[in-house]
Amino acid sequence: MSRGKLVVLEGIDGAGKTSIAYKLLEDLEKSEYHALYTYEPYNTRYVEILKNEYNNFRSAFLDALTYAADRLLHIEMVIDPAIREGKIVVCDRYYYSSAAYQGAMGAPIEWILEINRFARKPDIAIYLDIDPELGLKRRRGLSSRFPEYEQLEILEKVRQNYLYLVDKGLLIMVDASRSFNEVYHDVKKLVAEKLRIDF
Ligand code: TMP
Repeated sequence: MSRGKLVVLEGIDGAGKTSIAYKLLEDLEKSEYHALYTYEPYNTRYVEILKNEYNNFRSAFLDALTYAADRLLHIEMVIDPAIREGKIVVCDRYYYSSAAYQGAMGAPIEWILEINRFARKPDIAIYLDIDPELGLKRRRGLSSRFPEYEQLEILEKVRQNYLYLVDKGLLIMVDASRSFNEVYHDVKKLVAEKLRIDF
């Protein structure tokens, strides 16, 4: 069986990651590829413990370490086994989220990338770029599990950090302010080219 692949989608809430991921999955499966959708944070119990029991002691550093630990568990329990089975794994958020969000909260991006160095490298990582104001508008009415990041000022910093990762060549940017069909068309094309698959 051929080796599986890891596709990562990134962006602020409201960028459309989840809808794009689901459509990718649908089309991959229609073309008879085995695919799996997954997302981070994975085992939110880690994050819950951090919030419920240690909230007074929280920092961007502790958050970044918690997400990194959660990620290694996610890789070990979900991503690697699926890849070994030859699946195309579509992951909604990955270590770029740590770089962008915990970076925005004050931890140095290079350090965040360093503590995630042992996480499997994706075959392709796409950043869906939207203006945070548009993201908030799109999400209005939907509840987030992590509302503290929904402040415009922070989201502006998060976006700058994502753009920095694009500049570093770690993420491929897609303009997600357009219609779903336009955004999906570009994402699908990038995935097909990079993974050298036809779907
Ligand atoms: P969601 O469940 O509403 O998508 O929220 C996920 C939130 O978690 C989002 O605001 C970003 C945040 N997050 C981080 O801050 N660092 C990380 O490493 C990950 C995976 C998520």
